[in-house]
Amino acid sequence: MKIELRNIEFAYDKNPVLRNITGVIDPGEFVALVGPNGSGKSTLIKCINGILRIQKGEVLLDGKNLKSYGTNRLSQKMAYVPQTEQKAVPMNVFDAVLIGRKPYIRWKPTKQDLEITAGILEKLNLAPVAMKDVTKLSGGQQQRVFIARALAQQPEVLLLDEPTANLDLKHQVDVLKLLGSLTRQGITVIMAMHDINLAAMYSKKVMMMKEGRLFASGGNEIFTADNVEKLYDVNVETIHKNGTVYIVPDRTQSI
Ligand SMILES: Nc1ncnc2c1ncn2[C@@H]1O[C@H](COP(=O)(O)OP(=O)(O)OP(=O)(O)O)[C@@H](O)[C@H]1O
Ligand SMILES: [Mg+2]
Repeated sequence: MKIELRNIEFAYDKNPVLRNITGVIDPGEFVALVGPNGSGKSTLIKCINGILRIQKGEVLLDGKNLKSYGTNRLSQKMAYVPQTEQKAVPMNVFDAVLIGRKPYIRWKPTKQDLEITAGILEKLNLAPVAMKDVTKLSGGQQQRVFIARALAQQPEVLLLDEPTANLDLKHQVDVLKLLGSLTRQGITVIMAMHDINLAAMYSKKVMMMKEGRLFASGGNEIFTADNVEKLYDVNVETIHKNGTVYIVPDRTQSI
């Protein structure tokens, strides 16, 4: 699904947060949304999926205005994993993921719904805990359940707000690899992320946000020391290893 953002403006009660955001995201792109706390990443994600209504501009999905999509149809196209820790409701992991099938279920899940759910649990290494109460899992495991639920929607676009925030390094890498494999199947992935090195390693496109504006966007090559310094107001240095550039805070300049 192609996503076009045209001069988007959004304000919470007259407090402008997004200003003149314009950009195109093609099907199957892996986009990292980066920028300081409060720069508007979560707000932009919620404007793309229609949770928040933009005051000016347009969001076009495959050329059609977002407003023209009904809720069910939109949920079959787009899934969202929010940033804030979702309060898990007591139920087993299988059922928690099966809820993702809701946009497809008429009054009871079909065999196909159950099979899709089981397949996703296996893919995300959740099969061993499938019958466990989701509220009894660790924060990281719960996060994977929420990602699994979003995948059960079989979306064309997956929006994730800091999907790796609660995860240990192995699971961060696992999730990023999984997201990468989804993009190779044509699913568009847009994720807000704080770890710029992991973002640079796994995503293919970057949108840098600062104070509600698109500070820069492009391929991973825009992760330059200069851009990162201006984006976060912090001195950095670069480490070059095997053709990859890593950006780390410049310790000699820190307080
Ligand atoms: N529900 C809300 N009501 C009023 N203001 C809000 C609300 N949510 C966010 N804001 C404000 O909008 C701005 C952007 O917030 P947003 O959550 O989009 O930033 P973010 O880039 O996702 O930050 P973080 O990296 O901390 O998650 C901030 O100034 C924030 O205070
Ligand atoms: Mg946020």
